[in-house]
Amino acid sequence: MLDEVYAVCRDDTSGAPADYIPELAAVAPDSFGLCLATADGLVYQVGDTDIGFTIQSISKPFTYALALADRGLDGVAAHIDVEPSGEPFNEISLEPDSQRPSNPMINSGAITAASLIDGRDAADRFERVRRCYSRFAGRELTMNEAVYESEARTGYRNRAIGYMLRSVGIIDVDPDDAVDRYFRQCSIEITCADLAVMAATLADNGINPRTHERALSTSLTERVLSVMTTCGMYNAAGDWVTTVGLPAKSGVGGGIIAVLPGQLGISVYSPRLDGQGNSVRGVAACRELSRRLELHFC
Ligand code: DON
Repeated sequence: MLDEVYAVCRDDTSGAPADYIPELAAVAPDSFGLCLATADGLVYQVGDTDIGFTIQSISKPFTYALALADRGLDGVAAHIDVEPSGEPFNEISLEPDSQRPSNPMINSGAITAASLIDGRDAADRFERVRRCYSRFAGRELTMNEAVYESEARTGYRNRAIGYMLRSVGIIDVDPDDAVDRYFRQCSIEITCADLAVMAATLADNGINPRTHERALSTSLTERVLSVMTTCGMYNAAGDWVTTVGLPAKSGVGGGIIAVLPGQLGISVYSPRLDGQGNSVRGVAACRELSRRLELHFC
């Protein structure tokens, strides 16, 4: 089945890799990997599933998860709402009354989540993020320095978002620290196979099905999956839910994860993106898999 879906999607070479962060353009544009990991730990894979690339916005649900573990549901809700904003990922977006970012999966919400991570100092706070992602993946992940430096050199809009959030009191720590952690988390390097295990960990109520280590409590995993359902695909969220019907998250590195709770995680890597910043083949492969395996549940 995976081979068939791969073959159906492989010939679509439309779209282009992201290049607004210079280092992101330095990828083989036609790489394509597809993985499915079950909640009992089996991993099926086809294509370029062991090429390293940066997690980018797929980091957002995992840092949000760690913020929830550190601050609790109410502690996070005081800073970030759970409404789908239907906006592009880099929209400068605040709710009129509370001033909170409405959507935890776009940059304003994600930078706020990064500001809520506990730790002794900046290095410790990022190390806790890195270790959290590693528990989901079941191996020690590291940061791609070149991508981090490229994003830190060019990320003026994200700095502007961080300063704006600080000015209205939603971020109550140094905004440079929060934005730097966000740049670093986006630069964590993963493979398509890692992403499938991370997705399967969400499917398995927060327990990594390969290592059997708990990465997140069951109740917080539910919250993360709910937010991925309504907010994970930016301005394509409605289209995604109607055509794929699974909680998901995409990143401009070319990855997508999708989760069928209790059952499985899917991951795709293909760096050519559509106009909304989602992987062209990634969206097509998830649609096709959902249709063939009747995964559509929400
Ligand atoms: O905020 C940024 O510019 C990136 N580092 C992450 C953006 C991203 O992946 C958006 N996703 N589709």
